[in-house]
Amino acid sequence: SSSKLLIKGGTVVNAHHQEVADVYVEDGIIIAVKPNIKVGDDVAVLDATGKYVMPGGIDPHTHLAFEFMGTQTVDDFFSGQAAALAGGTTMHIDFVIPVNGSLSAGLESYEKKAKKSCMDYGFHMAITKWDEVVSQEMEIMVKEKGINSFKFFLAYKGALMISDELLLQGLKKCKSLGALAMVHAENGDAVYEGQERMIELGITGPEGHALSRPAVLEGEATSRAIRLASFVNTPLYVVHVMSIDAMEEIARARKAGQRVIGEPVVSGLILDDSVLWDPDFVNAAKYVMSPPIRSSGHDKALQAALSTGILQLVGTDHCVFNSTQKAVGIDDFRKIPNGVNGIEERMHLVWDTMVESGQISVSDYVRITSTECARIFNIYPKKGAILAGSDADIIILNPNASFEISAKSHHTRSDTNVYDGKRGKGKVEVTISGGRIVWENDELKVVPGAGKYIEMPAFSYLFDGIGKADAQYLSSLRAPVKRSQSTNLHSS
Ligand code: URP
Ligand code: ZN
Ligand code: ZN
Ligand code: ZN
Repeated sequence: SSSKLLIKGGTVVNAHHQEVADVYVEDGIIIAVKPNIKVGDDVAVLDATGKYVMPGGIDPHTHLAFEFMGTQTVDDFFSGQAAALAGGTTMHIDFVIPVNGSLSAGLESYEKKAKKSCMDYGFHMAITKWDEVVSQEMEIMVKEKGINSFKFFLAYKGALMISDELLLQGLKKCKSLGALAMVHAENGDAVYEGQERMIELGITGPEGHALSRPAVLEGEATSRAIRLASFVNTPLYVVHVMSIDAMEEIARARKAGQRVIGEPVVSGLILDDSVLWDPDFVNAAKYVMSPPIRSSGHDKALQAALSTGILQLVGTDHCVFNSTQKAVGIDDFRKIPNGVNGIEERMHLVWDTMVESGQISVSDYVRITSTECARIFNIYPKKGAILAGSDADIIILNPNASFEISAKSHHTRSDTNVYDGKRGKGKVEVTISGGRIVWENDELKVVPGAGKYIEMPAFSYLFDGIGKADAQYLSSLRAPVKRSQSTNLHSS
């Protein structure tokens, strides 16, 4: 039956080990990984000789069916996931946005949207206001709903942006729940000033988007969030690290032993801001995202940081608007819906940019595209590994074949693609999701409803030893001075 599958003769790659072996799968679970597995003729066999057999990609950062800036992303849970599977990603973690500050209402809305899922998914939750109800709902999300991460937006003033006071409350609550705090790190008040400045100068096009929110504002917010997380002593995850400025703050903190995770996204790793000066509005506007794509040099520096471990995993921030939606901002860049594609292209572009170029090993590739994400969000080794007992989310990548990206043949619903025309070495030839072949011979066979919600338990490895560190901090405080009733105040 189709629920039994043998992948023969490939090089099986995990984050810490690789070997030539067969992989036997039954009912969506990996049963055995070893050489020369013998099976009956009721088992479908895939020949992977000369190819890599790897855990399916996990995209830690997506926005499907996201209502944002007065419109909704073109990709919903079905189309976005189908695109993902066509590119070798078998799980994603999407951001639930509260409804009028209510986390439970937000979750309900996303649960509905996700019913048509054709691959596994998990949720992060954004926190957009603060009161006792939100605080209690965070606890419910962690203890009953399988959400172990909360995102705080330091930008998007007047919409999603929160104050330092809220961030502090949120960090403390995350710590007590063993949940990971995530930040969108840009100084939203300063971005607002920067936007006014551009409009006053008459710079209303997409280039004004980049000019209004320079890297220094990302560096400032990253530094602030990291230092507040240090003050609270809780781990921090910085989403979409787009600049050297932000990366260096993360490097400094990690060197000092702080638990900070940095997530670059594909656009920041391989694009530069020259595209925002394209005289054709549609060509430029499709690259508008926040933080913005930086000038040439930031991309290479982020690649180097990823290869040396300063940054740990790659996301996409897949958040797609078509050219009609982008055109709402034709006279004012502030109205261009922010976001770019990437869920379908990530595995290929990271392979080409990082492995094919010789910057990292194949095992490191598995780590930054899958395993590290599973560890951080506490679903390893169910996800992120080719091991007996793991979910059968598997890709077969042929290092000798090539890929080409085109807005005409891609699977997202957008009419544009920020990577249009890019080609390179290494192609995901087969994607297996929950034990079923969903992508083979450039054909998708996806089933709406086949994807499962993956609950993510609290207290990932990032929390190990936090209590001990707190105790050390308390015992390290200099003893307070015992003062008798002051007699020397106001003595003049
Ligand atoms: O431009 C972006 N990044 N859109 C998605 C929302 C966010 O900030 O992640
Ligand atoms: Zn963001
Ligand atoms: Zn995002
Ligand atoms: Zn006095």
